[in-house]
Amino acid sequence: MDPFQMIHIDKAATEHMYIQIYKSIADLIRQGQIKSNVKLPPIRSLAEQLGVNNVTIVKAYDELEKEGYVHKKIGSGTYVKPMDHHGGAREPFEDVGRGLEQMDRGQIHIHSDMISFSSATPTPDLFPVEDFKNLLIEILDRDAGSVFGYQESQGYYPLRESLVSYLQQYGICTSVNHVQIITGAQQGIDVISKAFVEYGDAVIVEYPTYTGAIATFKSRGAKIIEIPILPDGMDMDKLEEKIQEYKPKLIYTMPNFQNPTGYSYNSQKKKQLLELAYKYNVLIVEDDYLSDLNFNGYDAATLKSMDMQDVTIYIKSFSKVFMPGLRLGFLVIPSKLHPQILAAKHASDISTSGLNQRAFDLYLRKGIWKHHIQFMQRIYEERFEIMVRCLNEYIIPLGVCCSMPQGGLNFWLCLPEGFSSNELYRKCEENNLLILPGSIFSSNQKESPCFRLSIAAVYPDQIKLGIKKLSEILERMIGKKESSNIHPYFPIL
Ligand SMILES: Cc1ncc(COP(=O)(O)O)c(C=O)c1O
Repeated sequence: MDPFQMIHIDKAATEHMYIQIYKSIADLIRQGQIKSNVKLPPIRSLAEQLGVNNVTIVKAYDELEKEGYVHKKIGSGTYVKPMDHHGGAREPFEDVGRGLEQMDRGQIHIHSDMISFSSATPTPDLFPVEDFKNLLIEILDRDAGSVFGYQESQGYYPLRESLVSYLQQYGICTSVNHVQIITGAQQGIDVISKAFVEYGDAVIVEYPTYTGAIATFKSRGAKIIEIPILPDGMDMDKLEEKIQEYKPKLIYTMPNFQNPTGYSYNSQKKKQLLELAYKYNVLIVEDDYLSDLNFNGYDAATLKSMDMQDVTIYIKSFSKVFMPGLRLGFLVIPSKLHPQILAAKHASDISTSGLNQRAFDLYLRKGIWKHHIQFMQRIYEERFEIMVRCLNEYIIPLGVCCSMPQGGLNFWLCLPEGFSSNELYRKCEENNLLILPGSIFSSNQKESPCFRLSIAAVYPDQIKLGIKKLSEILERMIGKKESSNIHPYFPIL
């Protein structure tokens, strides 16, 4: 379909038509529907198509040019630019690497003989299917048809009650009124964005960060400000500088076992982050997708539990330790923000599946959850330890850097200067090994020497085999370093 046929305007709206056209085209460019270097339609023909004046189109194209989406070639027309860093514009994915564009949408094609360090999702053999089957039957016998009616948008009340008690172990004291059930953490990010992020608003994220969050903020037309994350959290001076400069609507952060780096904030930085939020009146969005997997006794306190002024929206996902296909998570929301969140949730999908909410409620109430989480912790801890050993033995001596995480599923490794992880990705793929290059985790897919390895979907033997294989590929790529050149490994305690 011609992407320009997808431009929509609402002539009854109060927003100027040229702004609507500008936004519509900018969205299509960001979504990749209109590719780099494509020529925009001539002014007169687009004006006719949309039933507006030529001047309206001229102004829309001027706005696109001002914001860095297009450039004009005299005597030729207006062309889509490869995107720059700050406008959220980017080089097309095809230029970055074969197959990477699929990863942007969380989809990678994996052959059965591949070892995949790319997926951070548990494999189905770890799902508690039998237990859940019994609960589903019990729920259907108990609640019959009401399971399949529309549910309360805020979430099934008894589940919210169960979650309030569940949260106590994380030091979060809240009430059922502040819990909002969501259809997975991804929806949580989306709902929060819908509620609070307007076109052009600045949003601060860690760099690198979770791809799904970047995609959501971009879809709202946000200006994404990236602050590099260090092994103990963001640089707080830089953060303050950027807050002053951009006056962001929110700061999106994963303080424990960050995705993709596995880094965790130290307690002092957690406090500083909250203090900056209080000082500048910025909302914090805390994405807690993994704090259950704490292997070294690190203090995985959540920001929400430390927040004395109620500025944090806490997002909890169970996807990494339970069953991602259940599409279930929840938010804990500052009281004054609840009406907007509820409206955005209702506009998204009305309510989360009643069957899943009720089954998960019973799962918590019957204490089966506790056994399952202990089971997952054992499985992952074994893989975690093997991974640390293998990296220390085979990879670190090659001059590849890694600040070992304290828990979670992800390891972030950085090649020596001058090497690109996109190139490494391609070499690995040729050898049936999958890694995730760092370019995936930035707003403009810029090349990165770093890459993510995840232990979620690899068995212990595959870790040993895979890391050995990776070391051979790396050896060929960067050459073995003399021991004097070895980068030492500093655990962050
Ligand atoms: C940091 C982070 N947040 C949110 C999500 C999405 O989780 P859910 O499956 O609950 O939507 C993911 C999934 O990978 C993630 O890594």
